[in-house]
Order: sequence, then C-alpha cells, then structure tokens
Amino acid sequence: MLQTSRRDALKLLGGGAAALVMPSMSLAEERDGTTFKLVAQPVQHKLHPASDAQESTLWSYNGQVTAPTLRIKQGEQVTIEFTNALPEPTSIHWHGLRIANEMDGVSGLTQDPVPPGESFTYEFVAPDAGTYWYHAHHKSWEQVARGLYGGLIVEPADGTVLPDAQDHLLIIDDWRLDGEGKFDAASLGAPMDWSHGGRLGNWLTVNGQSLPNISLPKNAPNRLRLINASNSRILDIDPARFGGKILTFDGQALPDAPMELGYTPLLLGPAQRVDLLVEPEEDFVLEELSQEPFAFCSFEVDTSEQKVADFAVPTPNKLPMPAAEDRFKFDLRMTGGAMGQLDNIYYQGEKLDRSGFQRTKQFWAFNNVANLAEEPLFRVKKGQTVELNVSNITAFMHAMHVHGHHFLIEDRDGRGVEQSPLWRDTFLVGAEQSTRIAFVADNPGKWLFHCHMLEHAASGMNTWFEVT
Ligand code: C2O
Ligand code: CU
Repeated sequence: MLQTSRRDALKLLGGGAAALVMPSMSLAEERDGTTFKLVAQPVQHKLHPASDAQESTLWSYNGQVTAPTLRIKQGEQVTIEFTNALPEPTSIHWHGLRIANEMDGVSGLTQDPVPPGESFTYEFVAPDAGTYWYHAHHKSWEQVARGLYGGLIVEPADGTVLPDAQDHLLIIDDWRLDGEGKFDAASLGAPMDWSHGGRLGNWLTVNGQSLPNISLPKNAPNRLRLINASNSRILDIDPARFGGKILTFDGQALPDAPMELGYTPLLLGPAQRVDLLVEPEEDFVLEELSQEPFAFCSFEVDTSEQKVADFAVPTPNKLPMPAAEDRFKFDLRMTGGAMGQLDNIYYQGEKLDRSGFQRTKQFWAFNNVANLAEEPLFRVKKGQTVELNVSNITAFMHAMHVHGHHFLIEDRDGRGVEQSPLWRDTFLVGAEQSTRIAFVADNPGKWLFHCHMLEHAASGMNTWFEVT
C-alpha cells in the first residue's frame, strides 16, 4: 500500500524524484484583449508522485491543475466569461478584490449559482495591485477542496513587474489523499472535521504539483507569491530559514517592505497570501512546520550568466483609512466547536441540542447564532468606519475573511500589533484570543463575513453585513 505520510516527502526530494516545474501557464491563450474565458470542469490529475499512486478526479478551470493564473492590470476593466461544465451549480469569487458587490460571486447572496451547462459573465475593475486568488463560492468546502481555484495577480498601473524568471506564484494546497494516493472524496463533509479543525490533509502541492523544484537566478531579487488555498490548514513557514523578507500581506505592500520577520513562525491561514523577496545564494527548501517538517518545494539557484531585472519594492495601495472617531462598533463572539461552548447555539430559530447538532451539522456560532443568513449581522451607511471586536471563545484558531474590504488590524489582546498599518482581508484569531479590526465600509452591497476554514463556514461561522 502506498504511503502518503508527509515524512516520505523528504525522501522523495532527496531521491531526485522532484519534478521540474514549468512556469505556471498564463491565461494568454484564453485571453482576448481584456476578456478571459474560464470553464469549470472535471479533470484527471495525479497528486502524489509515487509511481503506484492513482490519478484523482479533481475539479478545476480550463482543464488545468492548478487553473490558469489571471494576470490583469490595476484599473483595467476585465471581462470573464465563465461556463459551468461541472455536474453541479457553482460561482466564482475574486478573493480580496474590492469590486462591485454584484460581481463578488457569492452564491445565494450576490448571485444565483450558475447551473450546470450555463454561463455567467463577470466584469470588474481591480483597484489595488497585488496577489489575490479566485475560487468557487458555492459549497466551497467541497468545490475548493476538489481544486476549484486559481491565482489572480494585479499588476500595478504604474511601476515595474519582474520577468517571469524572478516572479513566481506558489499556490499551496493541503490535500487529503487516500491509501492509493487519490483525492479522498469519501471523507468530504465529515462531521468530525466540521466540529474540529476542518478538513486537514496529508499531502501538500504547489500549483497542483508534488515536490516541485523551481529555479531562481542566484543572488538576484526574486518575488515569491505564496497563496494558501487549503480548506483548513494553517501553514507554518519560516522565511528566515532562507533569508526571505516580507513584501506584502494579502496583496497589500507593507510600508516598511522588505521586512524581516522579527518573530517566527509565519502563520499563513487559509486564503491568506504573503509575497516574499528572496535573493538566494544557494539552494533551499520551503518547509511546512505545523507538524513534522515537510519540505514540499525546493529551489535551485541558477548560476548561469543571465540578465536579471532590478527590483522595485511594491508601493502600498491607497486604501481608505478608518476614522478614529464616530465609529460603528460591533462585538463578535465566536463560540462552539469541539471542546468549546456548545450550550447556547441557535440555528434558524432552533436552539440546538445534541441531536440538533448531529442533524444540522451546525457546530459554530457568531453571537450564539449559527449561519446568520436571513438578516445581516449589521447594517451601516456607505462611508461609515466599522470597528469589529472579535473574541474567539473556542478551542481553535480561525481565519476570518471580510468580503469587499481590506481592514486594518489594530489590536490583539490589548497588546497592539507588531507592525502598523497592517492591512489584510483575512486575519487569524487564536483560541481564547481577541482581535480588533477597522475598515471604512465604502462599497454598497451585501458582504459576506466568514471563517475561511471552509468547514467552519459551512457549519456556522458564516454571516454578512450590508452597506447602504
Ligand atoms: Cu475566499 Cu468568502 O472567500
Ligand atoms: Cu474557523
């Protein structure tokens, strides 16, 4: 029987089994001016490198694992003609982009899901440069797990972009494989995952590939754009091990970039991104440290004489600064889950008891309500500064995502933050911890607010607010 233990990855890397990664294919061939075509469809793909590993039936866009990267220009109007060739409805969300609400792609809130065989046209203008991603937003806990996501890079309207050899997108995914190395579909939706830390996998890929080996020009500036596309795995990486410095979080350039982390490790929650600057002198590996270290990606320095481009540190985007006064303040208590408070959770008006939890699979709540869907959590007028005080009274860490807005992290547990301003679209809040965020609600519409551990969102940590 095939071993899928993460420990084996080290052997495979050492044994020269690593595949040479081709630069991730761009959408150039699917692109016609500023119009792109995306088709969601099943695709056969081998996730584990062992010779006896079976192929998996995954879902992706344009028959490619990982789906094509969309490279667009800040401020340019783009059109995406989307067709659903899956056996079930779906929709696409453009994670982190501050775009018009009706293009946000949340099935059931901003649009009806696109039925099998039908199409939907997305049109938007990306206002901010940076690293983003797109993913299915209908039954995301299943559709994203099956591979429905891709990278989205917004190039600055003015400013330079590094050549491909120095600019690498790494979409990291945590897959649960069965004993034959196949995507484990049988355990999708397992209540054990939903009530605990979500669907955690046993194998990591980068752009759909196992143990890739990426070539970087030696001593030259290289930008590594890391996206965590896992359903629930919080990636624990340590860029200091290879001299990586931080340029951006969630697409937003740090004012003092490139920044060395004064603290380790770097936790990258589901949906979070970090762009690193690496000027390698020698080969190195990227390791995931949340369990036994897993070197899931290796880098080889290219010493051949070559022209390398100069690097300009990305400039921060112009995001609306929250006002200090006249804030709309809201307290959010996160409860529920295994080893947590389960005694006061309501779902669709029903107070859940033991059998209620089993029947509804709702295990988590915001202010005692699981999946608040009929009414918004709050309503504010356009332009209002919103301050959210989030306390996590559960035994798990969560990755909270606000749609349509970037926010400032202002405080953690009354101790301030490591650096400021710190803009994000998804923030981690630890067990028994609290975090204060603030943002200007400047975009009218219905905006989702949820845990990006997709099982947690499906089982209660999901709500929305309205900007009028
Ligand atoms: Cu990445 Cu609700 O989304
Ligand atoms: Cu969560």
